[in-house]
Amino acid sequence: MPRHEVIAGLDIGTTKVTVVTGEIREGGNISITGVGHSSSAGLRRGVVVDIDGTVRAIDEAVEKARRMSGSEIKSVYLGLTGSHVASATNRGVVAVSREDREISAEDVHRVMEAARVISIPADREIIHLLPREFIVDGYDGIKDPVGMVGVRLEVETQIITCVTTSLQNLLRSVYKAGLEVDEVVLASLASGEAVLTPAEKELGVAVADIGGGTTDLAIFERGSLLYASVLPIGGEHISNDLAVGLRTPVAQAEKVKVEHGWARVEDTEDQIFLEIPKMSGSGGRQISEKVVASIIEARAQEMLQLIGREIKRSGHSGAVTGGLVLTGGTARLRSLVELAASELDMPARVGLPAGLGALTDVVGGPDHSTAVGLLIYATRGRAGSPGSRTRERVLGGWLARLKGFFREMF
Ligand SMILES: Nc1ncnc2c1ncn2[C@@H]1O[C@H](COP(=O)(O)OP(=O)(O)OP(=O)(O)O)[C@@H](O)[C@H]1O
Ligand SMILES: [Mg+2]
Repeated sequence: MPRHEVIAGLDIGTTKVTVVTGEIREGGNISITGVGHSSSAGLRRGVVVDIDGTVRAIDEAVEKARRMSGSEIKSVYLGLTGSHVASATNRGVVAVSREDREISAEDVHRVMEAARVISIPADREIIHLLPREFIVDGYDGIKDPVGMVGVRLEVETQIITCVTTSLQNLLRSVYKAGLEVDEVVLASLASGEAVLTPAEKELGVAVADIGGGTTDLAIFERGSLLYASVLPIGGEHISNDLAVGLRTPVAQAEKVKVEHGWARVEDTEDQIFLEIPKMSGSGGRQISEKVVASIIEARAQEMLQLIGREIKRSGHSGAVTGGLVLTGGTARLRSLVELAASELDMPARVGLPAGLGALTDVVGGPDHSTAVGLLIYATRGRAGSPGSRTRERVLGGWLARLKGFFREMF
């Protein structure tokens, strides 16, 4: 039997580190072979603040995934998040070089390089340069111009940048754990790959991956990324509010939220009472499910309003005809989708990673969207689309530089 190529996705979240391994099958499909988790406390709002703690968490998750899949993990597709992530657009223009005016892969590369010339602050790094559409002699909406005939080739790109030092601390943790990095991928781009349908991405849709400490927001339209940003809000804020409101330790508040929490008071009943442990640890109090939900609802509303405001701020509210897809661990919160639909006045649904085959029960939850999406993104990159070709060249450069830099350090 032929050995399939094994790839791995590494998602370093605020509450957990996840490693997912997969094999690329014929036709470019991915088959998930293993998963490993560990709890993580080395991040604050998506940024590494404790390298050693993060390295330990990566080691543990990698070891678990290795045991389950039976494959060594040497390199990973790495998810990037954090409120330092920013998104911009830029256009590139070149003249078609061949005499017979046929557009070549080289022209596409040159026009992407032209779009890359944008002034960004000195402390930032470009992590993605994604073509949204190509324009040939004024005709727009072209996905792959190679082989077409024209004189003038333009590209409209989405550029994702992040703060260099935050990226370096993330990479440092990964290298210290003995792993190479195949590519750094924006977490929301990965989550979008995992949970959105091609039809949604074509029509226009927003995906919000609400984790523990961050919400990764991305807007897609006509099949490509239009906007991305990371908001410093997540499920931990809900648990903290519950801890304060119910005067109970955070760990207990977290448990109450997960086991009995509702995002809408109207879905709960007066007569259902929960035993809430006291701060002191001795004894408890009876508190109604409604009271718990009222605390959750206030924070959930605020989170959804922030998401709504960010969509407006992006200038792409008009594009989000397909509505909002919620994923990430917090998307498990009961009736959050219903609250989102009414607060933001748009269709909303929960997004789960799809097409996972035998391991759906292990990696099919919304908290696995980023890790699974990293693998899907990786396989798409091999499909030979103009974006992926350019992607490898553009990113290859700085990643190689950084790798060299880190090798010298260790
Ligand atoms: N059933 C549930 N109801 C409500 N919240 C839940 C439920 N299950 C998990 N959560 C919340 O999901 C959050 C963790 O989500 P996730 O695993 O996606 O985060 P992460 O990727 O570690 O963090 P981040 O993406 O913010 O860096 C926690 O705040 C947890 O309380
Ligand atoms: Mg996450």
